[in-house]
Amino acid sequence: MKKGRTSPGFIRHIHPVSIPLKALELKSTWALGGISLILVMLLMGSGALMLFVYRPFPAYAYASVLELKNQYSFGQMIRNMHYFAANLLVVTVFAHMLRVFFTGGYQGQRRLNWIVGVYLFCCVLLSCFTGYLLPWDQTAYWAVTICINMFGYIPGGDILKGLFVNSHGVSEKTLQLFFTLHTTGIPSLMILFMGIHFWKIRKAKGVVTSGLNLLTEAEKPVMVKTNPHLLLREAVATLILVAFIMVLSFFFDAPLGDMANAGLSPNPAKAPWYFSGFQELLLHFHPFFAVFLIPFMLLCTLFYLPFIRFKHRDIQDEGVWFISSRGKKIAVAAVLFAMILASAFILVDEIVPDVQTWLPGVPVILSEGVIPFGLAALLVLLFHFWMKKQFRLSDAEAFQTSAVFLIITFMIFTLTCVWFRGEGMKLCFLGGCG
Ligand code: HEM
Repeated sequence: MKKGRTSPGFIRHIHPVSIPLKALELKSTWALGGISLILVMLLMGSGALMLFVYRPFPAYAYASVLELKNQYSFGQMIRNMHYFAANLLVVTVFAHMLRVFFTGGYQGQRRLNWIVGVYLFCCVLLSCFTGYLLPWDQTAYWAVTICINMFGYIPGGDILKGLFVNSHGVSEKTLQLFFTLHTTGIPSLMILFMGIHFWKIRKAKGVVTSGLNLLTEAEKPVMVKTNPHLLLREAVATLILVAFIMVLSFFFDAPLGDMANAGLSPNPAKAPWYFSGFQELLLHFHPFFAVFLIPFMLLCTLFYLPFIRFKHRDIQDEGVWFISSRGKKIAVAAVLFAMILASAFILVDEIVPDVQTWLPGVPVILSEGVIPFGLAALLVLLFHFWMKKQFRLSDAEAFQTSAVFLIITFMIFTLTCVWFRGEGMKLCFLGGCG
C-alpha cells in the first residue's frame, strides 16, 4: 500500500474510498450479495481440491467419492463444505434477488446489473444441478433423470434431451458433459458475470440507499472510509460464514445413497429441492404449462422487470423496503393469502377427481392445461385488482403485492413437494411420508 492511500489498489477497484454511513446498515442489504460471493469462493476452493480425487466415469465416480471419504484426511469434510455451501448459495442468491427487488434496486442505472444478476441466478441453479449428478448415487441419478425427462415436454426439447442422454437415458455422456459444465463452463461464465456485476455496482456508486436521493446538491450524506469500516465488517462476515460452514460440515455429512442403478427407480423419485416447485406444478398442470410455459413466463418477467415504468413510482422510493409502510403491511397480507390459497389448491386438487372423469373426451391440454391455468391466472388477476382497489394501491405497490403472492405460492409448492409427497407422489403428512 502506498503512503497516503486508504486501502490496497485492488480493493479500490471493488470499493470506493468512502461510502455513505447509511449503506453500512445491515438492513439495507442484509449482506446477502457479499455472503453469496464468499460462498462462490468457498465452492471454487473446495471443488478444486476434490478434483484431485474425483473421476468422472460411471464405473469410478461413486468409488472416487467413497475414496475421498475413507482414504483422505478431511476428504469428507471438504465434500461436506462443498455440499452445504452450494445449497446455502441457492438460498442466499434467491434472498439477495428478493432484497434487490423489494428495495427497488433494479431500476434506473442499476437496470443492466439486474439482468446480469438474472444470468448469475441461472448459472447458480445450473451449477448446482450439474454438480448433483457427479456422486453418481441413486438419488442423483434419478433426480437428474426426472429433470431431463421434463425436456420432453418443451417444444424442441427432444433435441435438447438428445444432447444430454443417449438411448439408455442418463449415461457416461451425461456425466462427462455435466462434469465439464460444472467444473469449467459454468464457473467461467460466473466469473465473467460477477466481474461485470461488481463493476456495475461500483459505477452506480454502491448499493441503493433510502433517503440519499432526497438530499439536495448542497446537502452531503454522512460518509465513512471504506477501510476500516466496510472492510472490517466484510472480514468478520467471512470468518463467521466460513466457521459456520465448517462446523456444519464437521457434524453432518453430505448425503450419499447406494450407487446409481438404472434398473431400480426409487419411489418417490424427486427432483433436487430447488426444482421441486416445478415438479409439484407437474402434478397440477399439463406438462407443457408446468415445465415450459410457466418457467418461460417467469424468466421473461425477470428480464422485463427493470423496464416496466410504474406510474407514481419515483426516486424517493429507491432503497425503501416494500416501497412504503403501507406496501409492507399489504405484503404481509399477500403472504397470508398465498399460504391459505396455495395450500387449499393443493389439497382440493388431491381430493377432487381428475377433470377427465367429468369432462371425458375433452383434450388433456384443455382439461389439465388451458382450463386450470386460465383459472389460476384469473385468480391472480382478480387478487391483483381487488387488492389495488380495496387498499388504493399504486401500480408499483399492486405489482409488488402480486409478486409476493406468487413467490409465496411457489415456495408452498416447493415445500409440499420436498416434505409432503410420499410414495407415488401422493400427499402425506408427518410419519406417513416414510
Ligand atoms: C452469485 C451471485 C451473486 C453475487 C455474488 C452477487 C453479489 C452482489 C453484491 C456483493 C452486491 C452489493 C450489495 C449486496 O451485498 O447486496 C450486489 C448488488 C446487486 N445485485 Fe447481486 N449478486 C449475485 C446475484 C444477483 C442476482 C441473482 C440478482 C438479480 C436478479 C442481482 C442483482 C443485483 C443488483 C441489481 C445489485 C445492485 C442493487 C443495489 O444497488 O442495491 N444479483 N450483488
